[in-house]
Amino acid sequence: MTLQIKNFKQYQKEYARSVKNPEQFWHDQALSFYWRKPWKKVVEWDFKGPDVKWFIGGKLNITENCLDRHLAERGDKVALLWEPNEADGKTKSYTYRQLHAEVCKTANALKANGIGKGDRVIFYMPMVPELAIGVLACARIGAVHSVVFAGFSAQALADRVNDATAKMIICSDFNKRGKKNIPVKKVVDDAMAMGCPSVETVLCHQNTGQEVDWNPEIDKWWHEELKGRRTSCKPTIMDSEDMLFILYTSGSTGKPKGVVHTCGGYMVYTCYSFRNVFQYQEDDIYWCTADIGWITGHSYIVYGPLLAGATTVMFEGVPTYPDAGRFWEICDKLKVNQFYTAPTAIRALMARGDEYVEKYDLSTLKVLGTVGEPINAEAWHWYDEKVGKGRCPIVDTWWQTETGGIMITPIPNVTETPPTFATLPLPGIQPCLVDKDGNEIAGNDVEGLLCIKFPWPSMIRTTYGDHERCRNVYFSAFENKYFTGDGARRNKDGMYRIIGRVDDVINVSGHRIGTAEVENAINEHDNVVESAVVGYPHDIKGQGIYAYIITNENVTDEEAFRKEVLQVVTREIGPIAKPDMIQVVPGLPKTRSGKIMRRILRKIAEGDVSKLGDVSTLLNPEVVEQIKIGALVELKE
Ligand code: WTA
Repeated sequence: MTLQIKNFKQYQKEYARSVKNPEQFWHDQALSFYWRKPWKKVVEWDFKGPDVKWFIGGKLNITENCLDRHLAERGDKVALLWEPNEADGKTKSYTYRQLHAEVCKTANALKANGIGKGDRVIFYMPMVPELAIGVLACARIGAVHSVVFAGFSAQALADRVNDATAKMIICSDFNKRGKKNIPVKKVVDDAMAMGCPSVETVLCHQNTGQEVDWNPEIDKWWHEELKGRRTSCKPTIMDSEDMLFILYTSGSTGKPKGVVHTCGGYMVYTCYSFRNVFQYQEDDIYWCTADIGWITGHSYIVYGPLLAGATTVMFEGVPTYPDAGRFWEICDKLKVNQFYTAPTAIRALMARGDEYVEKYDLSTLKVLGTVGEPINAEAWHWYDEKVGKGRCPIVDTWWQTETGGIMITPIPNVTETPPTFATLPLPGIQPCLVDKDGNEIAGNDVEGLLCIKFPWPSMIRTTYGDHERCRNVYFSAFENKYFTGDGARRNKDGMYRIIGRVDDVINVSGHRIGTAEVENAINEHDNVVESAVVGYPHDIKGQGIYAYIITNENVTDEEAFRKEVLQVVTREIGPIAKPDMIQVVPGLPKTRSGKIMRRILRKIAEGDVSKLGDVSTLLNPEVVEQIKIGALVELKE
């Protein structure tokens, strides 16, 4: 097994070694995996391209490492524990042997339906075991999976299907989430009706058994396709740098981009980071509450834990159903040892009161994790005291879809954990802070833009179908550095505290949303002339979405208009991108070159109208006053 750091001295030693001789460090980490052919060279890189390759010449299949490799030693150990939406439902479990058999059967079914190496398969599914199984089945045969969060709209789904030119969509009939019963197949049908010419098959898993529309030319049932399939399937041997998956994520401009991860480096890094950040021990039960539609679910529900031979929990439902004690009920019932969730969930549960958490026995918990957004001190302390009873280290893990794995984080019982600090980079990760001109800011007690100056195995390789975009977004801002889009502070002890995005990306309940995407959606409304979207602080969601909209004269009923805007955004992107505030404005503050001054709009949305700075150089300074008056009314409502 890969390295597991046990004390701070060892951390310092490994860190120093990883900087001094990265090739040797990563060579050692990669040794514990099963490679069909060893690599010839550890890394080659050039951030100008970018052109980054890890474990060059190595051949492998990641599922052999997730599954086959464990069969001799852990064949009867539970690999996957699945907890259904209904609290009185039955927990399902799969041993490594059973999971291996299911993955092979599914892989054989995919093959029989014409899916092979390099083909793209889109998943649009709830959190059922078949999602994890399907993803691994793709990896088994070298097909590229792209999971789309099942809360996105038909339009958003169609955009992703077409960008990936996917050959197959795998979905379910309906999705149970809390009290809701969501018609998933219907969304896929709608996306297909919008035009997804590359799709040959829609494979539908029967989840609730409710009736769905059926197109016999394209639609196939999962259970029928799996019937009688063999429980073994020869893995397709992949090159280290062959594509493993595409995951779409929002940026500051345009449509979401497909972040590409490759087989070898992603495998090594997710296992390595999982073992260290959660200090997983052989009999532990590990639970990450994320959805597999996001990177956290990929790396720390599916790949990382299975690579490490862990028991990983997957939960179908939501934290507040049937009540706000559901997470803790599951921790108690399954005797969870490591628990990993998002600050927004902690804040939401904290707001419901302590009695829900006090009801349950949480004595098995050893490590608590958070991810996705900055955690505020109040939520951190509640998590520490009420959930961890003051005896579980909290790992505030900073990373991104693009980084593939956790980058800056405490290691439990190794690193000090000052609240709200992601603290220190894992060995192998070389972060730095730069100023606006790209000069590295040395020393401690400083603040700047967070960059990474040396490659790591699970880093983004390209944005699917548009390498230039990858270069522009991440590698062109500062020479020879990967730019994260985040601002950070380094304290006197050299520990990092993530401040948040410095670009036009907002983080709503831990979900990344591009302001441009929301604006484009709003602009689809016939009566919208122009819009500008910014983030503002929100007690539960971390950030809320604030939309300023200029309408044409056809809008007579503002209330009705707001509702229509929400519908348009839900249709174009999905409910997660719905604005929390909509203000109809007579104009938007613009520079003389016509650029919207978002800084001013952000300040107004924050309710901080006292320090707007000099607005006299604007093209239209008078609108600032008008927006301010409107905003005050808005925020009081
Ligand atoms: C933010 C999620 C503060 C950050 C794994 C980053 C965080 C974006 C933290 C990536 C953290 C993630 N503290 N902010 N511990 N973790 N972020 O791609 O702004 O969905 O750039 O990946 O989330 O979001 P993504």
